[in-house]
Amino acid sequence: MKKIFLAMLAIAAAPVLLARTYSNLVPQPLKVTPAEGVFVMEKGLSISASDAIESEQAYLLRHLENVFAFDIDLRDVPVYNGISLKIVDGMAAEAYRLSVSSSQVVIEASDAAGIFYGVQTLLQMMPPAVYGQTDMELTRYELDAVVVEDAPRYGYRGTMLDVSRTFYDVDHVLRLIDWMAYHKLNRFHWHLADDNGWRIEIRKYPQLTEKGAWRGDDEVSPAAYGQGHDRYGGYYTQKEIREVVKYAAERHIEIIPEIDLPGHSRSLVGVFPEMACPVDVPYISANGETDNVLCVARMENYKILTNIFKEIAALFPSEYIHIGGDEVDHTSWNNCPHCQALIKKYGLDGPQELHSWFVYEVEDIIHKLGKKMAGWDEIVISDARYDSSSMVYAWRSVKSGRMSVDKGYRTVVQIGEYCYLDMKQSPAERGHSWAGIVPLSKTYSLEPDEILVGAPADSALIVGVQAGLWAELLAWPPRLMEYQLFPRLCALAEVGWSSKDARNFGDFEQRLYAEHFSRLYNMGIAFRVAPPEVTFDGQELQVRPPHPSAVVRYTMDGSAPVASSPVCRGAIVTDNPEAFRFATFFGDGLSSIAVGASNIDLYHYIEPEMTVESNFPLSENNLKALARRGGVGYSQRVLQEGDVLTYTMTAPVECSRITVTSGAPSSGMFYVTDAYVEYVTADGQTVNAGELYHGTLSFEPCGPVTQVRVVMTDSNDGYTAVLHGLSIEK
Ligand code: ACM
Ligand code: ZN
Repeated sequence: MKKIFLAMLAIAAAPVLLARTYSNLVPQPLKVTPAEGVFVMEKGLSISASDAIESEQAYLLRHLENVFAFDIDLRDVPVYNGISLKIVDGMAAEAYRLSVSSSQVVIEASDAAGIFYGVQTLLQMMPPAVYGQTDMELTRYELDAVVVEDAPRYGYRGTMLDVSRTFYDVDHVLRLIDWMAYHKLNRFHWHLADDNGWRIEIRKYPQLTEKGAWRGDDEVSPAAYGQGHDRYGGYYTQKEIREVVKYAAERHIEIIPEIDLPGHSRSLVGVFPEMACPVDVPYISANGETDNVLCVARMENYKILTNIFKEIAALFPSEYIHIGGDEVDHTSWNNCPHCQALIKKYGLDGPQELHSWFVYEVEDIIHKLGKKMAGWDEIVISDARYDSSSMVYAWRSVKSGRMSVDKGYRTVVQIGEYCYLDMKQSPAERGHSWAGIVPLSKTYSLEPDEILVGAPADSALIVGVQAGLWAELLAWPPRLMEYQLFPRLCALAEVGWSSKDARNFGDFEQRLYAEHFSRLYNMGIAFRVAPPEVTFDGQELQVRPPHPSAVVRYTMDGSAPVASSPVCRGAIVTDNPEAFRFATFFGDGLSSIAVGASNIDLYHYIEPEMTVESNFPLSENNLKALARRGGVGYSQRVLQEGDVLTYTMTAPVECSRITVTSGAPSSGMFYVTDAYVEYVTADGQTVNAGELYHGTLSFEPCGPVTQVRVVMTDSNDGYTAVLHGLSIEK
C-alpha cells in the first residue's frame, strides 16, 4: 500500500518532460545528452559502413526496412544525410557513441560489438514496429538530436536456458537470441544435458540422443513434469548447433555450453548404466530423480567424457565449457567400494572432496582441449583449488556467491532469489518458489557489489550477471518461457549494462510502460502483464492498475476478463464484491492473471466432516490431512491404473461446486496425470464428473454428495503424486 503510494508520488513528482525518441531506452545508457534539432529519415536515406562491420550494417538495414516505405542505400563511405557506422580508435570494448544531429546519424565504436549496441540503441529510437511484428510504411520519420555515450558495466551479461526439462527447438532458441541481442545481452548459457534429456548430438555416441533425448513409457528417462505417456523430447544436431552458434555470433552473443556432471546425469546414466557406481542403493536427488550420479572411480568414464567434450569443444568457439557440478547426491559414492577405495587412496575427506577430485579430472580434460572450465558454486565448497581461470556461477545464495569471490574465483552472479526466472512473479502465478517470489522489482534490485564484495579489489572478480530459466514447469501453458523471461530479463539486462547511478526502479518501470512493452510486443514476445491490485472497502471495489497508463478490464460473474470485457475506469460500488474479477490488458492479445479483491474471501468454502481412504500406499497422517481443504498427501509409490482415492462424507453435503486438485502446493509438480473423478449422490447415483486436466477438475454436483472418488486410469509420472483435500463451495 505504502509502496504504491510512493510509486505514484514519484511519477506525479517527476518533471513533465516532452517524450523524445531517446526518452525510454532499456537498458539505460551511461550518458544521454540532448541536442537541438531533428534528423529526418526519408527517401534517399543511406547506411554507410566499412567491410569489417558489414554484418551490423545489414542488420540495421533489415530492421529499418520494417518501418519505411522507401528503399535504403548501403554505402561504404559516409554521405551527408545518412547513417554512418564507424570503427574508431580508443574506445572500450563494447562501448559506443551514437550522435544524432540534423545532418547525420553516426555510431562510433572501437569494435563491432560496440557498433552493434549503438545500432540497438538506434532501433529503440525508432517506432516499435522496427522489430517486425506489425506493418509500417513510413515515408518520413524524425529522430530527436542527441548524443548517447554508452558502455556496459559488466562484460558478462547472460541468459541461461535449460533445454533438458523442456526441449526448445532451434527456432525457439534463435528467437531468444534475438531478444537477448535487443537487450544488449552477450552470453547464452545453453544447459544442454541434465537428468531429463541429453540435447546435443555426439557423433561418437549416437545413443546419447537416440535414447537419452527422449522421455516416456519405454524410454531410458521416465516421463516427468506431467508429460504423461507421450514420447517427449528432441535434440540438436551438430549442424543445428553450428547454425545457432553462428547466428548468435552475428549478434555478438557467445554461447557457453553446459553438460551437467557428475549429478543431474540421469540421461547419460540411462544410456550408459555402467557410468554409475555398481551399487543398488536407492536415492532421490534434490530434483526427484534416481540413478543420476556418475561413479568417480571408474576411469573409463573420463575417456567417455573426453570424447564428448572433444566434440563440444570443436562446436563452440567460447573459451569456456560449463561442467555443472551442482546438487550431487552422495548416496551411491558412500556405498561404492571403488569410490571408497579412491577416497582412501588419495586421503580424501569424504564425498565433498571426492566431488572436487572429479571436478579436477574434468578440469584437466577441458584444459587439454584448450578451454577453461566453468561450474556451479558447489564446486568450491571444499578447499579445492582449481585453476585461476575457472569461473564459478553463484546460484544458491548470496553467501555462496561471497564464498566464490572470497576464494578468488571469477564469478557470474546468477543467485536464485534475484536471477532465477523460473520463480513465481507473485504467489498466485505459475512457477517455483523455493528461492522466493521473484517480482520484477526484486530482479532489478540486484546490486552484485553490495551483496558480494568485501574489499573493493574483489569487485573485479564479479564478471557479470545472468538470468537462469529452468524448465521443469515450462511445458504448459504455451509461451510460459516468454512470460517468465519478460520483462524480468529487461531488468537483468539493465543490472548488467547500466551503471549503478543510472539505475532507478521507478524510472525503469516508467520506461517499460511508456515504450518498452510496445517494443516487446513488436518483438513477438508474450510477456507477463502485471495484474491490478484490488481491495473492497465495504462499499466500493478500489482498483489500482499496475501503472496509470495500464488498461484494466473486469467481469461480474467470477470469470476471467477477456479483451471484450468492459474497461474499469475507477472505483465500483457493489454489494457483491466476491463476483468481480479484474485483469490488466496489453493490446488485445496479452493479459494478466485475473484477480479479485485481495482483502475479502472470494469463495465461500465449507468444510464438511469426511474420511479419506486409498487402495495405494499413503500414510495415516496424509489420509487425515486429505480430509481437510488445503491438506496434502504424497503417494508412497508411482500411481497406477486402478488406484483410487475415496473421500466419504459423514453426512450428504449440499454444495455448488467441488474442486479436485493435485500437485505440489507451490510448484504444481507431481500432479496426477491420468485420472477421472466420480461422485455418489445421496440417492445412490454414481456420476462421472470428468477427467483431470493438468491435475485439476472442478465440477457442479447434481445433488447432495456422499462420496468423491479419484480413479487413476494409467501410471503417473514422477516418483510420487501429490494429492489434496477437496475444495467445496457452499
Ligand atoms: C542449479 O540450480 N541447480 C544450478
Ligand atoms: Zn563409484
